[in-house]
Amino acid sequence: MTKICCIGAGYVGGPTMAMIAKKCPEIQVTVVDINEQRIAAWLSDHLPIYEPGLAEVVKEALGRNLFFSTEVDRAIEEADIIFVSVNTPTKTFGEGAGCAADLQYWELCARRIRAISTTNKIIVEKSTLPVRTAEAMERVLHSGDNPVHFEVLSNPEFLAEGTAIADLEDPDRVLIGGHDTPSGQAAVRKLVDIYATWLPREKILTTNVWSSELSKLTANAFLAQRVSSINAISALCEATEADVTEVANAIGKDRRIGSKFLRASIGFGGSCFKKDILNLVYICETYGLQEAADYWRQVVLLNDYQEARFVKKMLKEMFNTISGKRIAIFGFAFKANTGDTRESPAIRVCRALAAERAKLVVTDPQAIDNAKLELPELLGEIEFEEDPYKAAEGAHAIALLTEWPEYKELDYEKIYASMDKPAFIFDGRNLLDHKKLFDIGFEVYSIGKELRSHLK
Ligand code: NAD
Ligand code: UDX
Repeated sequence: MTKICCIGAGYVGGPTMAMIAKKCPEIQVTVVDINEQRIAAWLSDHLPIYEPGLAEVVKEALGRNLFFSTEVDRAIEEADIIFVSVNTPTKTFGEGAGCAADLQYWELCARRIRAISTTNKIIVEKSTLPVRTAEAMERVLHSGDNPVHFEVLSNPEFLAEGTAIADLEDPDRVLIGGHDTPSGQAAVRKLVDIYATWLPREKILTTNVWSSELSKLTANAFLAQRVSSINAISALCEATEADVTEVANAIGKDRRIGSKFLRASIGFGGSCFKKDILNLVYICETYGLQEAADYWRQVVLLNDYQEARFVKKMLKEMFNTISGKRIAIFGFAFKANTGDTRESPAIRVCRALAAERAKLVVTDPQAIDNAKLELPELLGEIEFEEDPYKAAEGAHAIALLTEWPEYKELDYEKIYASMDKPAFIFDGRNLLDHKKLFDIGFEVYSIGKELRSHLK
């Protein structure tokens, strides 16, 4: 029986391993983590992450061939294949602080694997890593006198949160990078065979290790760049009476451009885009490619600009003072269908509004607990309220920051009636029916569209 160990039971390790266990009942999959609380949650009825469809997949395999454990060493020793799916956040200290990836967790894993292993193993980079990390890992793994052979593969994960299960069931592609050596190619074949259990082989791309590592950073940079591009155009739309949805639709019909990822918004969030682009910037700089670095950095700068622009607009439309005004924040997660708030634009928007002394009430269907953790300095000042109707009661404004579909279905007449007047709505996701809201009586500001105001 093939045994897989995955180090890191987070947003990637948990769902990806649950899917492999579901699809391959003959493989034993053990997901380990040093975070005891997280492991306990995976074994409970309240999984540590909210992801549609995940609970069913876990339930099907849990205890059969899917295990969650804190016994890291044991799982390492028993495994034939070890996925490393630990976090790789932006470095906050020393050389490359604020830009480079912090590789300490990955390296700790490599050292542990080296110390524990007594049999040959395939080590799979599941985390997103700088190009050529595998080289450093191989050096760590093969240093010392342990005769065990480790074959390092790169197998980056492309799932998006909120659609992780669908993305794992039917990905656009799976990418596996391996060395062009007999042991490298044998390892690649072994991993290909696992994915081929449920995916057509033509969807499984094999490349050299460096292309695979770099493709992950590049994919995220391209996706984020599309969001920043349309957001740049949204600012121009507001200045010219063009409508960003119409522009996005018109350009998206061009098959060379394509229609996806052209939703203008308050800006992209999430644990990946910013960190991965900054990492790409750092790598370009390391190789002396300053112009390439500057090009990609601009994607992040534009995203900062879009967030700041939104707050400025709120302030300006609300007569340049929001001090003491109640503002309901509809949605705190970085996107819909997740409870994840990492790098959510809502964090910076709330901080900026709180600095103006607004009274904030945050509501979100899944992210209130995480929202509290994101704003420790404002606890006590900000209200958290599960019911959006209550959050909006007596408010001067609603700022919609996450595109939760349920916010579309709310009774806005009822909400309008309960709010202070003039009642403002700032739709940071272009989710709502703006004409309808305007007809109800709202002052409506959206992204890249005309301002609908009764006051002018
Ligand atoms: P996460 O923070 O949710 O999970 C990482 C887990 O690793 C944590 O639970 C942590 O306790 C554990 N860990 C850290 N060091 C450990 C060690 N030495 N031993 C055992 N466990 C350890 O992170 P995530 O969102 O799952 O991301 C993991 C990697 O996948 C990152 O490199 C990320 O860039 C990449 N990625 C994330 C996504 C996403 O949507 N979140 C998508 C694709 C790729
Ligand atoms: C991303 C990548 O899509 C995924 O392939 C990778 O594995 C991890 O990073 P994720 O961050 O989970 O996934 O979500 P994604 O759907 O990419 O959205 C990222 C951010 O961009 C969100 O804040 C989202 O609201 C925003 N976005 C996305 C837009 O503002 N407009 C769009 O058109 C698309």
